[in-house]
Amino acid sequence: MTFLASRLARIKPSPTLAVSQKARDLQAAGRDVIGLGAGEPDFDTPDSIKAAAFKAIETGQTKYTAVDGTPALKKAICAKFERENGLRYTPDQVTVGNGGKHVLFNALMATINPGDEVVIPAPYWVSYPDMVQLAEGTPVIVTCPEEKGFKLQPADLDRAITPRTKWVILNSPNNPTGAAYTEAELRALCDVLLRHPHVWVMTDDMYEHLVYDGFKFTTPAQVEPKLYDRTLTVNGVSKSYAMTGWRIGYAAGPKELIKAIGMMQGQSTTNPSSISQAAAVEALNGPQDFIPQRAAAFKERRDLVVRMLNEAPGIACHRPEGAFYVYPSCAGVIGKTTPDGKVLKTDEDFVTYLLEAEGVAVVQGSAFGLAPFFRISYATSTAALEEACRRIQRACAALK
Ligand SMILES: Cc1ncc(COP(=O)(O)O)c(C=O)c1O
Repeated sequence: MTFLASRLARIKPSPTLAVSQKARDLQAAGRDVIGLGAGEPDFDTPDSIKAAAFKAIETGQTKYTAVDGTPALKKAICAKFERENGLRYTPDQVTVGNGGKHVLFNALMATINPGDEVVIPAPYWVSYPDMVQLAEGTPVIVTCPEEKGFKLQPADLDRAITPRTKWVILNSPNNPTGAAYTEAELRALCDVLLRHPHVWVMTDDMYEHLVYDGFKFTTPAQVEPKLYDRTLTVNGVSKSYAMTGWRIGYAAGPKELIKAIGMMQGQSTTNPSSISQAAAVEALNGPQDFIPQRAAAFKERRDLVVRMLNEAPGIACHRPEGAFYVYPSCAGVIGKTTPDGKVLKTDEDFVTYLLEAEGVAVVQGSAFGLAPFFRISYATSTAALEEACRRIQRACAALK
């Protein structure tokens, strides 16, 4: 349709949202579907956070706020960075948006000129390349194979950098693989970046609190203070505090960049919801004890899913360090034939087969830039996960 802008041709609908919608449609049509496509905790927002939102409504905090965040929330964010990451920021180095996604979007729109390159390690969160393309930049995808733990290797980063490179996007723990960088691994990447002073780091730390087996989370500006002046550290309350629907994300970085992000926001959405901001203040300043409790529950589920998937013929599943995803290889089922005679040629064929034959909704690895794999979100009940893994085992065993 010629009425629509040509920029739309550069992007595609989010494949993860599409899978969740397909699962909902099938459920609405009466099918028994287990959805493992959604990237959100099944836990509810803690009561103390909800209470702060009620209080905000009752006390009239229902008006516009400062465009890029209330002073109270910015103060809470500065305290969080200092307490948890050893990073010192002042409120004018902090911006708050409508979710981490919005902050990343604004940051790219505020900095990318046509032809600027952004290094994106694959497997990647589905939105990075499309956001870069909307901003008229060029995503430079660097493959991180399973043998390397799905992690960006310093030499590969070095090779990917050109004079046009503006950003490298790092995401640890990672969506879709759950891989998280150790301090030593981040150190090695920082060393490469020190040799390329024109490249900035956009680090997406949304899954910071979801790490297991004693893994120690670190972030680039903490590992290498010399990168502080060219790092945008992005985080949010969506995953750690089970607040996906509240739409609060934030970032800290150099003042000039933060101001530019605020300008984007001022001419588009204005401030994020005043009530959600009040709730986020309580999330960051209030009790934190439910975070390790929930992380422990996620770890149990991870272990269950990894064990059961490795029992499915043709599936090989690694044990990731964090987030609530696993990214098993389905190379062992490619080329096999389904009971109704269809040859599985790609991971997309495999996930379609899982949905149609067994009512299990997962997302194909090709959507995240590395095939043949699939992503399972284990942020759902243990009973549902057990049943889903049994169905996957049955589906794989039925292949010839
Ligand atoms: C890696 C990553 N970054 C950012 C986001 C966006 O989070 P928010 O819901 O705060 O926009 C997500 C959500 O799925 C994510 O997985």
